[in-house]
Amino acid sequence: MYANDYLYNMAEDLVIDLSLSKEEKYKTLLPQIEALIAGETNIIANMGNLCAAIKETFNFLWVGFYLVENDELVLGPFQGPVACTRIYKGKGVCGTSWEKEQPIIVPNVEEFPGHIACSSLSKSEIVLPVFNNGNIIGVFDVDDTQLNTFNEVDKQYLTQILSFLSFE
Ligand code: SME
Repeated sequence: MYANDYLYNMAEDLVIDLSLSKEEKYKTLLPQIEALIAGETNIIANMGNLCAAIKETFNFLWVGFYLVENDELVLGPFQGPVACTRIYKGKGVCGTSWEKEQPIIVPNVEEFPGHIACSSLSKSEIVLPVFNNGNIIGVFDVDDTQLNTFNEVDKQYLTQILSFLSFE
């Protein structure tokens, strides 16, 4: 029996009730992601599990991180189809969220000037900045196959989930 065994079990036993509303799903998910992250200090491991938990709960098309590297964002941990690996500051929804250091909700990707289409299946998107000690270190991007998927509920709960990430 290892000290971390309960965390492995927790990871295997993500509790998801697919009949719940979006807000109720987030409320169920929050403490589970918090517990997963609290037991691990490696940021990549935590980003990976965070993506997996959100993808499994909501079945979004693509859930992942882009991490700041010099003047570019580079693809980080994600779940979903293969994606573009590098995005310049100010480019696309991700590069714009990085530049403005603000979350961006895109109801229809075709109406966002300069949107980068990694997958033709993506119809709507939300991107949130990821901070470490007040500095932006990347963005968190979620795409869906339906129009108008994301709203203030996603923004509020995803911001809270991202705040669980700790940086050593
Ligand atoms: N659509 C994003 C690019 C990343 S993919 O969606 C995974 C953008 O416009 O920045």
